[in-house]
Amino acid sequence: MALLRILETPDPVLRQISTPVEKVDDELRTLIEDMFETMYDAPGIGLAAVQVGVPKRLLVMDLQEPENPDDPESPPVKEPRVFINPEILSHSDHDVPYTEGCLSVPDQYAEVMRPDRIRARWLDEQGESHEEDLDGLLAVCLQHEMDHLEGVLFIDHLSKLKRDMVLKKLAKTRKERGLRAA
Ligand code: NI
Repeated sequence: MALLRILETPDPVLRQISTPVEKVDDELRTLIEDMFETMYDAPGIGLAAVQVGVPKRLLVMDLQEPENPDDPESPPVKEPRVFINPEILSHSDHDVPYTEGCLSVPDQYAEVMRPDRIRARWLDEQGESHEEDLDGLLAVCLQHEMDHLEGVLFIDHLSKLKRDMVLKKLAKTRKERGLRAA
């Protein structure tokens, strides 16, 4: 297991279109393990391979939702999920807002509208095919991660004004970090 470096905007690799995974093998499963370790360490709930510099259609997710939905402080339940070559087959016409963040746009959050239900197909880490209807945070997160496979970041869904604000805040945060480190 190894921690991988997470690329941050405006790294041009994040804008690449990821290519399909051809073979689900041990090499890929090692990358998947490293991606989980990196995601949990960050910490985050989703990570696409391109975010660690591998532009392949692979992403990992673990929503780590609290054991007791009424108590956000209750211990998170670990439910790792792997999506290889994911496809969205259909989506509802009903868009809902969700406040999103991204490990490649660190510490910045903004509301994005997306369909609340999707039907998706993907392969798991054993190469088995799955097709399911997804909703809630799972649907939001999968759509966010699948955007990464097309070189799209959540800030691209914002108005120019809003996006510029987020990028300005990001630059400010980075500058403050740099000063503290100096
Ligand atoms: Ni992201």
